[in-house]
Amino acid sequence: MAVERTLSIIKPDATERNLTGKINSYIEAAGLRIIAQKRIQLTLNQAEAFYAVHKERSFFGELVDFMISGPVVVQILEGENAIATYREVMGATNPANATDGTIRKDFAIDVQNNSVHGSDAPETAALETAFFFSGIEITG
Ligand code: CMP
Repeated sequence: MAVERTLSIIKPDATERNLTGKINSYIEAAGLRIIAQKRIQLTLNQAEAFYAVHKERSFFGELVDFMISGPVVVQILEGENAIATYREVMGATNPANATDGTIRKDFAIDVQNNSVHGSDAPETAALETAFFFSGIEITG
């Protein structure tokens, strides 16, 4: 297995409920290392650009409104098979379908207010990490 990096976002529904530390404990318990992290307030333009792949979806407007409704914590996670590992730790997009013990099962409210985002493939992980972080902000 290769060491990978993936982008994680702790979303506004989770920062609002003060869950950053609890979510980080799930990440670290899975053997993933948080090698970059910052708490930011996204602008409308930034949220639209980040989720541009979803711009034709019916939920796009609500999604960007949600993502700018409060601060987010953006992170780069590093570890063996980090992309798939983090997707397992997050659980299904809709918490109603998530497995016990996953972040979304334990903390998410609904399919939109689903507490975390994680990259879905190596190509998107590279694009998404570069969207938020410059090289000087990452220390593995
Ligand atoms: P995320 O993994 O960040 O990718 C796209 C986001 O759109 C998703 O998590 C949810 O927060 C949001 N979303 C809202 N409605 C839906 C839906 N019906 N299906 C998938 N994603 C949705």
